[in-house]
Amino acid sequence: MAKLRTRYVCQSCGQSFPKWQGQCSGCSEWNTLAQEVEQAARRVPAQLSGSLSIIQTLEEVDVERAARWPTGIDVFDELIGGGLVPGGITLIGGEPGVGKSTFMLQLISRLGVTIKPLAYISGEESATQIKLRAERLRVGNGGDIILVAEQNLDSALNGLASYLPRLLVVDSIQTVYTPQMEATPGSVTQIRECAAILTKFGKDRGLPVFIVGHVTKDGAIAGPKILEHIVDTVLYFEGEVSSNFRILRVFKNRYGATGEVAVFQMTDKGLSPVINPSDLFISRKRTDSPGVVVVPVLQGTRCILTELQALVTQSFLAMPRRVVAGIDSNRLNLVIAVLEKHGGMKFYNRDVFANVAGGLKLSEPGGDLGLAMALAGSLDDRPVPSDMLLIGEVTLAGEIRPVSQAARRIAEGRRFGFKRFVVSSASELPDEKDIIKVASLREALRTVFA
Ligand SMILES: Nc1ncnc2c1ncn2[C@@H]1O[C@H](COP(=O)(O)OP(=O)(O)O)[C@@H](O)[C@H]1O
Ligand SMILES: [Mg+2]
Repeated sequence: MAKLRTRYVCQSCGQSFPKWQGQCSGCSEWNTLAQEVEQAARRVPAQLSGSLSIIQTLEEVDVERAARWPTGIDVFDELIGGGLVPGGITLIGGEPGVGKSTFMLQLISRLGVTIKPLAYISGEESATQIKLRAERLRVGNGGDIILVAEQNLDSALNGLASYLPRLLVVDSIQTVYTPQMEATPGSVTQIRECAAILTKFGKDRGLPVFIVGHVTKDGAIAGPKILEHIVDTVLYFEGEVSSNFRILRVFKNRYGATGEVAVFQMTDKGLSPVINPSDLFISRKRTDSPGVVVVPVLQGTRCILTELQALVTQSFLAMPRRVVAGIDSNRLNLVIAVLEKHGGMKFYNRDVFANVAGGLKLSEPGGDLGLAMALAGSLDDRPVPSDMLLIGEVTLAGEIRPVSQAARRIAEGRRFGFKRFVVSSASELPDEKDIIKVASLREALRTVFA
């Protein structure tokens, strides 16, 4: 047995230190170091062991065109680039209760029709709990799903090997452990080692492996973040557990595009795909009300229309409030500053609240113009016409700058019955009668509130 030594491992970035310190010098987070026992590194022997590796030139490499396995959940297949890749390791993360276990069970029962058997290692829930969930979700009899309710990963994999599973799910990486390591389950050492074991198991046998990982809001707990570079694909579930929308986002994909999203709705039958997400985030019967606008939000190659609301009220505080949800607060402050400087509006004695519906995040500047008009409208109690879609970035100089994929955003707007599109005069869009081009914030204010 190798000698054991104590290390302090950052539960956020995974760096380890010989002594405890308040702040991690790797990622600058505070109070993230936890004591772990780790085995001393093996010494490199004087003589190399092992057989000869296969060595070939790039030209000689024989490509088996990676056959993709469609899962039967079309939005998911599209999301990951056309189906599962044998030997592909996927991390699927999200907050507790977001629907990871539900989704995995739905996925494997769909797959079980064509690819069998499938294995599900659960370190978290008992076999009975999983069976009850399967009954609620009505996912079939589950005759092709091998269930292992076990936390010892070595025992689970040893038990499974003879069943020759074609796919493996581990739920969750924080609850399994390998006895080869002294550290407790959920520690950085265990998570890394278990992920390495699973990766080897999957790659050796050509199995897709799904590793479920919990992420907490503050991200302080040892988590999936440290696995991101080990796995091939990283998917995160987003959305408030209290709302029923769930967004599955691709953060990393060795076999496809990143930034893509799929939208699901949580029902008592599990997660059901939403084909037209814009339907969810805006209401078809819209009325003119001050402070409410619809903005097109780009998510990967998709464009989703979503409602953005702003409320500007008189403030009785020395430091007026700026409260945001789904919008970057720096972006809000920038837009407010531009409205003050170039629109002649006063916000210094106003509380400002702004949010995006349905848990979506406005992470690109294409929604600036919409945000600016919602703020201006709420301040002066003037509504933005409900048939008008605002597309543009606001610059510090008070100009409206064109945004990427404007044509796609307009197309989505037309589909939802918008009749007028306010865009930057610098955008390369054809002159059509429903497209109104504006050069500055001033001009936009005049046009929108004419
Ligand atoms: N009987 C039910 N009816 C409808 N939704 C349910 C029911 N039971 C659980 N859920 C939903 O399933 C979610 C739990 O999903 P789960 O897959 O266990 O999450 P995770 O594995 O990410 O922790 C709950 O937050 C809830 O939205
Ligand atoms: Mg779960």
